[in-house]
Amino acid sequence: MKPVKVGILGLGTVGGGTVNVLTRNAAEIARRAGRDIIITRASARDLSRSRICDTSGITLTTDPLDIINDPDIEIVLELIGGTGLVKELVFKALEQGKHVVTANKALIALHGNEIFNKASEKGLIVAFEAAVAGGIPIIKAIREGLSGNRIEWLAGIINGTGNFILTEMRDKGRDFADVLAEAQALGYAEADPTFDVEGIDAGHKLTILASIAFGIPLQFDKVFTEGITKITREDVEFAEQLGYRIKHLGIARKTLEGIELRVHPTLIPVRRLIANVNGVMNAVVVKGDAVGPTLYYGAGAGAEPTASAVVADVVDVVRALTGDPENRVPHLAFQADAIADIPVLPAREFKTAYYLRLNAEDKPGVLADVTRILASHNISIEAIIQKEPLDNKQFLPIIMLTQQTWEHEMDAAIIEIEALATVTGKVNRIRLETLG
Ligand code: HSE
Repeated sequence: MKPVKVGILGLGTVGGGTVNVLTRNAAEIARRAGRDIIITRASARDLSRSRICDTSGITLTTDPLDIINDPDIEIVLELIGGTGLVKELVFKALEQGKHVVTANKALIALHGNEIFNKASEKGLIVAFEAAVAGGIPIIKAIREGLSGNRIEWLAGIINGTGNFILTEMRDKGRDFADVLAEAQALGYAEADPTFDVEGIDAGHKLTILASIAFGIPLQFDKVFTEGITKITREDVEFAEQLGYRIKHLGIARKTLEGIELRVHPTLIPVRRLIANVNGVMNAVVVKGDAVGPTLYYGAGAGAEPTASAVVADVVDVVRALTGDPENRVPHLAFQADAIADIPVLPAREFKTAYYLRLNAEDKPGVLADVTRILASHNISIEAIIQKEPLDNKQFLPIIMLTQQTWEHEMDAAIIEIEALATVTGKVNRIRLETLG
């Protein structure tokens, strides 16, 4: 059979890694795909830049349209990232009848509904395995491997930069800003690192995971995101003393009332495998009603791990080229006409347990005031510890773990606790999940 010709938009870290993997493993990949796959063209903004890949044999251009308009190219790999112009390029590629493989989480989370509609209209595939958790085949696992299950919840460490920061804070007692600077220097962080530390990047990925897990439209605007900037070294240490580890998790849970979509720092029991996922590694736990909890672990970023997912998508597209478009695996796991409008819950309707840290005066009755407020909101306390003063003698840190409660009850209780004359500053609240 004739080789399949592909064109690559973007020759940065992921584009370069993809050239390397497709070239190095060409023979093995062809045995799997049933045809040779060759990169005939690639585009990059600056052709004079040094690259991690050898581009000999590939026609280079600065204009992505040269690739999109090339009639011989059947698959376009969008590895530029970002939205805006890139969205237009993807639509143009679909208009030209090209299948698209992308690693672009923001593009899929924000514009995936329109993109998949257009692709289905044209009988084309848009594949996006590399958009979530880099090299971990989590899209395929949920969409195909778990298709017999009702997915109950999933929880993942889906941002390597954030996990690297929390790991270094815990293991080496380093400060947040210092570790972030290192993550940027090492190239893990997004172009705008607030995307990593404020949970936006994880929110994009969670949007995609929730959609394929529950058969709902992509709706990034409904994801609750809270970053890791308020986590202190003390919180990390106190959590450890209580048998918990703080991880920045993306959580999607189906409840009787609707779906919770949330990204926030979370205390999880140290004994859980996912609590021991360190550095830039990613991991996702998916709980299906039939299979129980399953765990997927691997590199969430980096040139070749991400290329591994891109190339797997290319192989899938090549295998499907001669098949009937009606019988393909649906883009979002569920048939397009079966995507359901299940409500996504506002944060006040989340139900979770909490870690609370507050600074209170060291005098009789203070703790009683705090516990009375919690009780008045039906919040049960699981554990309390009182520590030595941190930086002055007058106020003592009090750390509490609560049982599950409604977020709106906790919001109200915190306002009342902060108003106590004997409590100073803000209550630091971190959600807690047992992931049992
Ligand atoms: N900035 C992202 C991360 C890159 O740290 O996980 C991979 O999506």
